[in-house]
Amino acid sequence: MKDHRLNDTEKGVLVTGGTGYIGSHAVVTLIAAGYNPVIVDNLSNSKVSALERISKITKKKLPFYKIDMRDSAALDKVFQKHPIASVIHFAGLKAVGESVAEPLRYYENNIQSAISLCFVMAKRGVKKIIFSSSAAVYGDASIIPISENCFPEPTNPYARSKIIIEQILQDIHVADPAWRVILLRYFNPVGAHQSGLIGEDPQGTPNNLMPLISQVAVGRRKRINIFGDDYPTTDGTGVRDYIHVMDLAEGHIAALKQIEKTALKKSTQKPMIINLGTGRGYTVMEMLHAFEEVSGKKIPYRITKRRPGDIAACYADTTLARKLLGWKARRGLVDMCADAWRWQSRNPQGYP
Ligand code: NAD
Ligand code: UFG
Repeated sequence: MKDHRLNDTEKGVLVTGGTGYIGSHAVVTLIAAGYNPVIVDNLSNSKVSALERISKITKKKLPFYKIDMRDSAALDKVFQKHPIASVIHFAGLKAVGESVAEPLRYYENNIQSAISLCFVMAKRGVKKIIFSSSAAVYGDASIIPISENCFPEPTNPYARSKIIIEQILQDIHVADPAWRVILLRYFNPVGAHQSGLIGEDPQGTPNNLMPLISQVAVGRRKRINIFGDDYPTTDGTGVRDYIHVMDLAEGHIAALKQIEKTALKKSTQKPMIINLGTGRGYTVMEMLHAFEEVSGKKIPYRITKRRPGDIAACYADTTLARKLLGWKARRGLVDMCADAWRWQSRNPQGYP
């Protein structure tokens, strides 16, 4: 991809949810790419100690504001204080099951946060945004690999909140075509920064496979329940497109470059919807065995019944990401497991 030099104003990137799992890795990657991230998070699902770890890796002290995204007045002050050219909006609640039990909390937090952010951005003339959407918006897709043309059929409030925000951002662009919007639909992010200093630190019982596997490996849990072995897959367990979080983070840099390039052009650029995945799926058993191999730990498991709402297989068609962003995932399954294990074994209880 053709690079261009950034001036000081262009370097400022507001990272919402920047102390969270994906946000923290994105911040490290942004600094490596020459940007000046400014972090906002309400710490509802992350710890402030992630910032010290980010500083250790990057040797930089970063501006951080403990702000709720719904507090537009507080957010506005951040825009006044720092030169911000673009925003990467990670902040949000993300547990599917919880969203079914507490739909209003999910809609209110996620949608209100996005609206508040966009109001402030419009007020301050910042019109470049990358939004964290999810492969969850596709629901039980009938054609795999899943391309962006697949009609979204979200099956829970979390996924619906993502589709609604996607729509809001598209409507904002219709009203003011100067906006540049990229909607990234992530598949299953796993792994950690290779330093072992930052990683995934779910509060309470994890919902996702990889943190559960690594917590069993480190001795925090006895065994893992495998939700069904009677799916129409190679070994009967569910298939997902696991993507290394650092590859995902790099996908955001590619998206930012793309947005900067199109912002230079006078012609209008419609919002882009882009999958970020590897294009290859692994079964639960393949993940478990790969982790055993890398960690040298036995992962006890038992097969239980299917988890309601789960689908057999889900992996991305990555053609568009390659074409529009010139980006593809580089790290493989061994890197994902090795980096997740380095993080978990060095931080058995997560962040201090
Ligand atoms: P995370 O929970 O680790 O990070 C999200 C951060 O947002 C947290 O630090 C939390 O404290 C913060 N936050 C939540 N609501 C806020 C609010 N109102 N104001 C300020 N901060 C708030 O989650 P993550 O895995 O890093 O996910 C980042 C984004 O990517 C989310 O939007 C999520 O929906 C999306 N996503 C994640 C996955 C995944 O499997 N991890 C998959 C697809 C999409
Ligand atoms: N699984 C188990 N046992 C567990 C947990 C998971 O067998 O204890 C299996 C699931 O049945 C599935 C696979 O492991 O086959 C992956 O499950 P995850 O919960 O890790 O991931 P999902 O694909 O169900 O969902 C995740 C996020 C969503 C996001 C979606 C995007 O939780 O928020 O990926 O593809 F939208």
